[in-house]
Amino acid sequence: MEKTLLRLVTTGSVDDGKSTLIGRLLYETKAVYEDQLAAVERTSKKKGQDDVDLSLLLDGLSAEREQGITIDVAYRYFETATRKFIIADCPGHEQYTRNMVTGASTAELAIILIDARNGVMTQSRRHGLLVSLLQVPHLVVAVNKMDAVGYSQAVFDDIVATYEAFSDKLDIHDITYIPVSALKGDNVTEKSANMSWYDGAPLLHHLEHAHVSQDRNLIDTRFPVQYVIRPHQDFRGFAGRMISGTFRPGEEIVALPSGRTSHIKSIVTYDGDVQEAFPPQSVTLTLTDEVDISRGDMIVRKNNLPQVSNHISATLCWMSERDPLSLNTSYYLKHTTRTVRAFVNRIVYKIDVNTLHREQADTLHLNEIARIEMKTSLPLFFDAYKTNRGTGSFILIDPVTQNTVAAGMIRDAVRTLDDVMEKPETQAEMPQKTSPNTIWTGWNIPREQREARHGHQGAILWLTGLSGSGKSTVAKRLEKQLFDSGCQTMLLDGDLLRHGLNGDLGFSDRDRSENIRRAAEVARLFFEAGHLVICTFISPFAKDRAFARGLVEDGRFFEVFVKCDLDVCKRRDPNGLYKKALSGEIKEFTGISSPYEAPETPELVVETDLQSADDIVERIVALLREQKILS
Ligand code: ADX
Repeated sequence: MEKTLLRLVTTGSVDDGKSTLIGRLLYETKAVYEDQLAAVERTSKKKGQDDVDLSLLLDGLSAEREQGITIDVAYRYFETATRKFIIADCPGHEQYTRNMVTGASTAELAIILIDARNGVMTQSRRHGLLVSLLQVPHLVVAVNKMDAVGYSQAVFDDIVATYEAFSDKLDIHDITYIPVSALKGDNVTEKSANMSWYDGAPLLHHLEHAHVSQDRNLIDTRFPVQYVIRPHQDFRGFAGRMISGTFRPGEEIVALPSGRTSHIKSIVTYDGDVQEAFPPQSVTLTLTDEVDISRGDMIVRKNNLPQVSNHISATLCWMSERDPLSLNTSYYLKHTTRTVRAFVNRIVYKIDVNTLHREQADTLHLNEIARIEMKTSLPLFFDAYKTNRGTGSFILIDPVTQNTVAAGMIRDAVRTLDDVMEKPETQAEMPQKTSPNTIWTGWNIPREQREARHGHQGAILWLTGLSGSGKSTVAKRLEKQLFDSGCQTMLLDGDLLRHGLNGDLGFSDRDRSENIRRAAEVARLFFEAGHLVICTFISPFAKDRAFARGLVEDGRFFEVFVKCDLDVCKRRDPNGLYKKALSGEIKEFTGISSPYEAPETPELVVETDLQSADDIVERIVALLREQKILS
């Protein structure tokens, strides 16, 4: 029979004896080579110790020895007759909670060490909280150094009572308390003769028998696509890792975000085709139909879909020593195989690790944990972390330093009033609106006749970019130049249309979409009149810009991405709006507390922080000439 694998994580503060405990597990399960052991015995003797210092077995711990702390997570392997084990060894120093997050996010069992002489410390509580937040299914509290307290049952019972009072408030369902002495070997692999009052099993027995298979999510089938494999015309496969659930050939699937359906044709692995894929296998799926799927998409079962939202609530653990959380920064959010841009738009509360009380906060520092809400530039396909650790977790990456600054566990989609009210349809389902019982008869004078009179073709120049990026400056100069040279022009500007026509709209995602829908329809009217229509709207959403493009024929819509670094926009701040947005006076401000989806394939990109307005105008005019809009 194949041995099962248990992933475990150990934590404890520096002196709790964690290294000794791991060393003893490795030693007594014979995971250690004879020569290594001889060396350790020699060193221990040299130091005048009676007991062999098993902690010496752990390499890479010199930092801990020298500075009193270990910094990185180290992984160690051992096995017994029935099981294989991977230990993520997390240093316990208060400053290094993030290592625990790293080590524990895949663990099925956590061991928290408590020094019997010191009792329950802040770290022991912090680690319990993390075990709960990270939903490690099983927890063993190993009360160590029992030899140093005379193997006293009273000491043990007291620690158990204190820890239980705390852990009752946490979401941990299986806690086992074991009194051990890693140094002397009591209750580690063998039951101790020194603590006859303890009627439980020794630690190793517990590790060998912890039930883990039922903790795996085998129901919600999720397959994030890592690569599309197309070695030749006849083969198209989607490679990735099964995060949860199972797939079999013949099953009906849905590809997200497209919503296209198909069936699984085959499941390909290095060892040939298989009849079932399950976590954590890496496989390549082939489908019965040609479905357009790319990296970052997700393949799921037809009748079991994940949640889809770009507004989520999550528990965030801040891990950057360098910078605190900034509500003004757009971070990269890495979730399964996708990376999107994301803002934290609200800190709901911060958690006091000792008391579990909720506190107000406007930022987060290293190791702080909070409930937050965030918005993403593209929707995530996710499950709550509680039901699916793989699709429920993410990390945030600083866009400048590229460092991982936070780890998050998704709780749910945030539903605001906007979300529950009618949603703006997505591009594919967002046709032009039509009133009932009306008939389209076409324009009275064909556009071609008007264009012939004007001496140029009609076109829409759609300038999109952040507030303060310079759209209006460029647009005004451009219009002036075109007008002076005899063209029929019209400039439609966001601020102007928001007086009158769009004056009933605010800045929620939904209102912005409606704003662009109306603006695009107006642009189209001027276009049909044969004008060169210059539009300057932030137009932050790709689907709305796609709608505008779809209103006119191919080759007449020019999306110009007016690019400018957010910091430069903030510095320019022509109307003092960034200042107000940063102070919280204006809510939902683009780039600060509301997303901007940069165009992926615009006709032109101009950079106002690098190029002069005149150069940009020349560039646009040249484009109109190249495209035969101007002769
Ligand atoms: S859009 O997002 O709906 O395309 P639009 O271009 O019409 O925006 O209007 C943006 C202008 O409104 C900005 O130039 C700015 O002067 C003003 N404004 C006021 N509040 C906001 C806000 N919350 N976000 C962005 N712009 C705002």
